[in-house]
Amino acid sequence: MARSRSIWVCQNCGAESPKWVGRCPVCGEWNTYVEELVAKPSPGKSRGGVSSSSPPQPLAHVHSPDHERLLTRTGEFNRVLGGGIVPGTLILLGGEPGIGKSTLALQVCLQLSPGPALYVSGEESAEQIKLRADRLGLPQENTLIYAETRLEAILDQIRNLSPQLVVVDSIQTITTEEITSSAGTVSQIRESAARLLALAKETAIPILLIGHITKEGTLAGPKVLEHIVDVVLHFEGDTKFFFRILRVLKNRFGSASELALFEMKEDGLQEILNPSELLLSHLDGSLSGIATAATIDGVRPFLIEIQALVSTAVYGTPQRSTTGFDIRRLHMLLAVLEKRAGFRLSARDVFLNIAGGLRVDDPAIDLAVTAAILSSYLDLPVTPSIAFAAEVGLSGEIRPVTRMDQRISEADKLGFKKIMISGYNAKKTETSRHKITVIPVKRMEDVVRYLFNPKNPKP
Ligand code: TYD
Ligand code: MG
Repeated sequence: MARSRSIWVCQNCGAESPKWVGRCPVCGEWNTYVEELVAKPSPGKSRGGVSSSSPPQPLAHVHSPDHERLLTRTGEFNRVLGGGIVPGTLILLGGEPGIGKSTLALQVCLQLSPGPALYVSGEESAEQIKLRADRLGLPQENTLIYAETRLEAILDQIRNLSPQLVVVDSIQTITTEEITSSAGTVSQIRESAARLLALAKETAIPILLIGHITKEGTLAGPKVLEHIVDVVLHFEGDTKFFFRILRVLKNRFGSASELALFEMKEDGLQEILNPSELLLSHLDGSLSGIATAATIDGVRPFLIEIQALVSTAVYGTPQRSTTGFDIRRLHMLLAVLEKRAGFRLSARDVFLNIAGGLRVDDPAIDLAVTAAILSSYLDLPVTPSIAFAAEVGLSGEIRPVTRMDQRISEADKLGFKKIMISGYNAKKTETSRHKITVIPVKRMEDVVRYLFNPKNPKP
């Protein structure tokens, strides 16, 4: 039996210390150190990563793996992973509680054919999972449910059954006998993940680990897992809405900027193949305060509706509130509109919504945000046939954004007649291929004049 010793481990970043510390010197969090007992690793045993018995060899002599990627029936899941699951991959699927991680993983298992898939549940009983599977209405023959938290028992079952895919829900509930600290601590998570990784590599069975996210948005025991696993997926969205985004944060076998959209329905998650069509409400154009942005998330272009409401402030301090948009960025855009375009917004309440509860970080939606705000302020609708794609700078200049071609194509495909972009983008962009008319603008004044002053339509 290996001798154990006690160390203090930061539960936020995994940093270790021989004694208790109040504030983690690595990640700066307070009160995150927990005492953990760890067994000294027996000599020769690998702790994370792969180890092989063969001496170094020329790369040219290493056999390329001839296994094919495992294709699940969830097309969007395959696409996000770069075209299916590479054999022996260790995938981490993180997300806030209640977002739908277990649902997604179970759906992938149930549809796997030929199976079997092994679904290890440390959180819910087999009966509870049965209820969920019934709700999903998918065939259940190919999925084995195993309610267990002891790592050693799970490893044995994986070896015995040789399933096509293993799901471990969640990694935070799994404990190994080797370590005496309680489930969910950094050393338990790290050790369990390392042992599962070793098994995945040895047997070529792909393993999907589900991991919870702390309220700060990091995976609990986070950094330690992110570098061990091959693929990190993040499932996100607002639980009050139905849209969910599956985002790739790391992928050793594909692009790390892929993303897929799903909709949470009564009977599980449904893939959204044409996000733009769902995110636009196709209003008739008589409402003010609405503008459409041509945005890109990862590698995926989509059009999204921005809604703004500007009203007279009820209290002395005007309110500003946003859904899906950075509030500091809103403050900045309001200051630009006030100072550079002369709109008195400082005495107004401003509310801003991005359709579907999605969070957008793309700076290219700035122009649509300002257009929606001005439209509501002036109570003049923006014509619904126009889309926007540009960043707004501090001096009111309309700045260029990346991947203009993709944005224009997407707007064109969806039947928009015009797209307003930065004049600096327009020079470099090949526009003759599209039916859509490109409107180049350079300053905020041009935008205002074009949208809200019909007497002088040309910028
Ligand atoms: P769940 O997969 O349990 O989330 P997680 O594992 O990330 O904690 O799903 C959570 C929510 O999804 C739950 O509130 C109910 C909802 N849901 C549906 O709307 N439709 C369904 O078919 C299922 C199975 C769940
Ligand atoms: Mg769950």
